[in-house]
Amino acid sequence: MTTSENPRHFLDLSQVSKGDLRSIIDDACRRKQRLPGGDKPLAGKMLAMIFDKPSTRTRVSFDVAMRQLGGETLFLSGAEMQLGRSETIADTARVLSRFVDAIMIRTTEHERLIEMAENATVPVINGLTDDTHPCQIMADLMTFEEKRGPVKGKVFAWSGDGNNVLASFAEASARFDFELRIATPSGSDLDGRFIDWARGEGAKILTTEDPVEAVSGADCVVTDTWVSMGREDRARGHNVFMPYQVNERLMAHAKPEALFMHCLPAHRGEEVTDDVIDGPQSVVFDEAENRLHAQKSILAWCFGEVTSGSAAHG
Ligand code: CP
Ligand code: NVA
Repeated sequence: MTTSENPRHFLDLSQVSKGDLRSIIDDACRRKQRLPGGDKPLAGKMLAMIFDKPSTRTRVSFDVAMRQLGGETLFLSGAEMQLGRSETIADTARVLSRFVDAIMIRTTEHERLIEMAENATVPVINGLTDDTHPCQIMADLMTFEEKRGPVKGKVFAWSGDGNNVLASFAEASARFDFELRIATPSGSDLDGRFIDWARGEGAKILTTEDPVEAVSGADCVVTDTWVSMGREDRARGHNVFMPYQVNERLMAHAKPEALFMHCLPAHRGEEVTDDVIDGPQSVVFDEAENRLHAQKSILAWCFGEVTSGSAAHG
């Protein structure tokens, strides 16, 4: 393992500079053009992947990304580790740092991620917490720019639950200078600290309970499940969320060329209808594919292979 006093963690978009985030997306676009099998910048590196929650895309994209960059991965189910028998996150971080070169963790409370990062001497990556999902938004913005050009000045509209994916979108609106319009039902709003932070950084964010107001004239319409993992206890009736469903009627208020995004997994017939998610405006499978390319560049950034204003090869 390569340890460092100041490892480069990828914890949240608010914690990484604008320049570095832009370089990561630019690097991901370049990597996507190259076939895997070129040089192997992460040869000999081992990524530990801890999952306290289920995953398809995050698990597979990090695994394949590491292999294509020449590295290897360890899949660790939190419940099967001593973590599940109350060994502390801090001690786990110290031990894993002696074995591996980076740690990706998908967990519940955000504080667990922070404790991991504070005690690890190798880079720690946020693979989703109850609060945020920054890797997802990197892939989403990459996808938008592939299809429609720079996100700067564009309007993204969210209709649905005020969850972890939306929190990272709010941070991204400040980092990438796009406008965010959020429609959530009362009682399912995004935690105000994300909006306050983003507005403090100059972001333009509208919050409303009216999905039509949010979506009108938008360049991109985004939604996600009404019940996030581990939030089943807070689940609310479909009647609360149904007005926020992204269907053809709601999409008709966006620009004709607007894209539809969803991080997946989708609950068809709930937050989105089949005709929208399977329709011509939907880019949900491009988003999923771009998790792989974005992940490679996030990993490369953690290892110092991508820096602000530059993009590495490999
Ligand atoms: N979008 C996303 O993170 O998917 P998984 O839960 O399958 O990793
Ligand atoms: N908001 C969802 C995202 C899943 C990728 C969840 O946390 O379950």
